[in-house]
Amino acid sequence: MNKNAFRQLSYGVYVVSTWDKGRATGCTANSVMQITSDPATIAVSINHDNYTNQCIRDTGRFAVSILGEHSNPGIIGAFGFKSGRDNNKFDEVKSEVRSYLPIVSDACAYLVCELIDKMETSTHTVFLGKVLDADVLKKDDPMTYAYYHNVIKGKSPKNAPTYIAEEQPVQQSTPAAKYACSVCGYVYEGEVPFEELPDDYVCPICGQPKSVFVKK
Ligand SMILES: Cc1cc2nc3c(=O)[nH]c(=O)nc-3n(C[C@H](O)[C@H](O)[C@H](O)COP(=O)(O)O)c2cc1C
Repeated sequence: MNKNAFRQLSYGVYVVSTWDKGRATGCTANSVMQITSDPATIAVSINHDNYTNQCIRDTGRFAVSILGEHSNPGIIGAFGFKSGRDNNKFDEVKSEVRSYLPIVSDACAYLVCELIDKMETSTHTVFLGKVLDADVLKKDDPMTYAYYHNVIKGKSPKNAPTYIAEEQPVQQSTPAAKYACSVCGYVYEGEVPFEELPDDYVCPICGQPKSVFVKK
């Protein structure tokens, strides 16, 4: 099986939130999808080890804050790389309560759900939620998982369902174009395609800027 095929699936970037005995908590998730339109139903896949998993079971409700391209990327870090077991994640971001559930204010839309079913896999629970309330918070393009990786240059921790797929090196059908420094002749052969290197990349040999590189 070529796990690079999984990298062709598309996702968004969300904060899935709920209550922990009166305290707001939640985690970053990419695995949210709409299942039906009427009645409006969505599903989300949450790792067994994530504290959010236990809290959704206990509360029987959860919300999804849909992050936009202009949402503060720090939200993804605050909710995605530490646990609500020992952190008050909502202290770090502006939030509000909609239909009795905590949501992130700096999101482009939100959904509030009642837990109606769940399915266990070996590592994750798929929670099925009936949508009780939903609204658009601001005009923004929803952030895609690809945008998070390619533009924000973000990473995903091991509890993200996509983690293993991301660790596989991409096998390209055609080799990536090579670029050489026109000053010292150094040929760039790194894993990141040359076009995607940051603008402040400099030649490791002679220190000249990215702009002096030429395609071979
Ligand atoms: C971009 C991104 C996407 C993620 N997607 C998921 C996901 O779909 N499901 C999941 O269980 N964890 C996902 N995670 C990992 C959790 O957010 C992370 O393990 C978090 O620390 C769990 O917090 P908690 O213990 O408070 O629930 C993702 C993290 C990032 C950064």
